[in-house]
Amino acid sequence: MALLEPPISPELPAFANAYLKHDKKLFINGAFVDSKSGKTFKVFNPATGDVLAQVAEGDRADIDAAVAAARRAFESGPWRSMSPSQRSRLIYKLADKLEERLEDFALLESLDNGKPLTIARVADVPMSVDNLRYMAGWATKILGDSIPVPGEFHAYTRREPIGVAGQIIPWNFPLLMAAWKIGPALAAGCTIVLKPAEQTPLTALLLAELAAEVGFPEGVINVVPGYGETAGAALASHPGVDKIAFTGSTEVGKLIVRAAADNLKKVTLELGGKSPNIIFADANIDEAIAGAAFGIFFNMGQCCTAGSRLFLERSVFDRVTKGIAEVAKTMPVGSGLDQQTQIGPLVSDEQLERVTGYIASGINEGARTLSGGTRVGTRGYFVEPTVLVDVKPGMKIMREEIFGPVVAATPFDDPNDILGPANDTVYGLAAGVWTKDVSKAHKMAAGLRAGTVWVNCYNVFDPALPFGGFKQSGWGREMSHNALDCYTETKSVIVKL
Ligand code: NAI
Ligand code: MG
Repeated sequence: MALLEPPISPELPAFANAYLKHDKKLFINGAFVDSKSGKTFKVFNPATGDVLAQVAEGDRADIDAAVAAARRAFESGPWRSMSPSQRSRLIYKLADKLEERLEDFALLESLDNGKPLTIARVADVPMSVDNLRYMAGWATKILGDSIPVPGEFHAYTRREPIGVAGQIIPWNFPLLMAAWKIGPALAAGCTIVLKPAEQTPLTALLLAELAAEVGFPEGVINVVPGYGETAGAALASHPGVDKIAFTGSTEVGKLIVRAAADNLKKVTLELGGKSPNIIFADANIDEAIAGAAFGIFFNMGQCCTAGSRLFLERSVFDRVTKGIAEVAKTMPVGSGLDQQTQIGPLVSDEQLERVTGYIASGINEGARTLSGGTRVGTRGYFVEPTVLVDVKPGMKIMREEIFGPVVAATPFDDPNDILGPANDTVYGLAAGVWTKDVSKAHKMAAGLRAGTVWVNCYNVFDPALPFGGFKQSGWGREMSHNALDCYTETKSVIVKL
């Protein structure tokens, strides 16, 4: 494993220096404002542990103000009377602006989250643009039905915006999660209070700046950074919020459901995963090795879809595990700003503790490392890409989401018996299958209890494909026309003729 030096120069690229020089504020009712308490919090550069920015800390009072602004914009602002086509054009304009500023956003995302700049440029930012454009197209295609009923009646349905949407997002894909959330809400005609993760609020705030520039009316999009226990909890329990959309841990997802119960706001959740990735002996093994490595090491394993439980047919077990370990050993680990970096730091010291803690617990319970296993360096939050073998189904590392570059591999003998172990998890977000046998592929795709099944590929996303979880991986779907349904209410109208 090649360790690249973290950057030692305090000089950041010009845009970042200029942008981060001043404290970042909350975006409420079309303006950047200080928090009512005057409090701020620090955002860190995960490659160095240094403070990157100081950000206004939103709290219950700021959430109140943001919800009030969103409510006004929903009930009586110009947003309300805009045609679907006008809404669509605004979302397209936001996408265009974001595309123009691709380099700035990629840089900010890399600095804030730690991820390789080279990846943010080709994945996070373009995918966010693509998602906004896809949803912009839907704004003009939200239709009701005309329904024949017996008697002298004309009956039809209308699909109306649900109202004020509270959206709470995580730190692993900060901009992309913001785009996934605001796109369908805006297309449906909702107004928004978005709470970014406390670790990574920067790109959502810059996106708010662009939204104001392209002409979204005040109050339609509000962005309130702050901590989960305060700002997040206030949003989830707020009586003025009609719908809450959350992406994050399953543990907090359950808190969101409880908090939402008081006013019975609609809830969608995109939660954790412990996704099985199954490689049969009849697969193209070289492609499967590369795909499985990508499935777990992409974004340093900080993906809800990470293929963290690897099931390998016994005859190819050694070849595949050695192959993935070989990939792991040659991935350059370093600062996201370094062009060669493939493995950047984890997002925070908390995640560093969590991930190294899981590796230690695996080894304690009898697992063996084929590669990696430790922190890299003493500065920043780097962890080696890690392959664990000799694992048992009951081990903590086989049951809990690690959310780091750590994969656990198990051999299996009978291809007909693999669905049981693969589905043996409380999660159901994604799964991978590698085989050249078409019949086996489709049988597995049908039998896996997961919201997405990738066959001979991994981590392929498209705005037109529904994404979400079975079991404790969530409620509802993101992206696709399914996401729109989660931001509309259906009304039946019956007219006596
Ligand atoms: P988290 O679930 O605590 O944080 C996600 C978001 O929820 C953040 O914006 C946070 O401020 C907010 N939040 C936290 N507590 C809240 C509360 N009581 N009410 C309302 N909002 C609240 O996740 P965390 O602590 O950052 O990471 C812990 C683990 O969660 C990770 O190791 C990973 O396993 C999982 N996770 C899963 C993600 C996914 O994409 N499914 C994303 C992030 C984390
Ligand atoms: Mg948490």
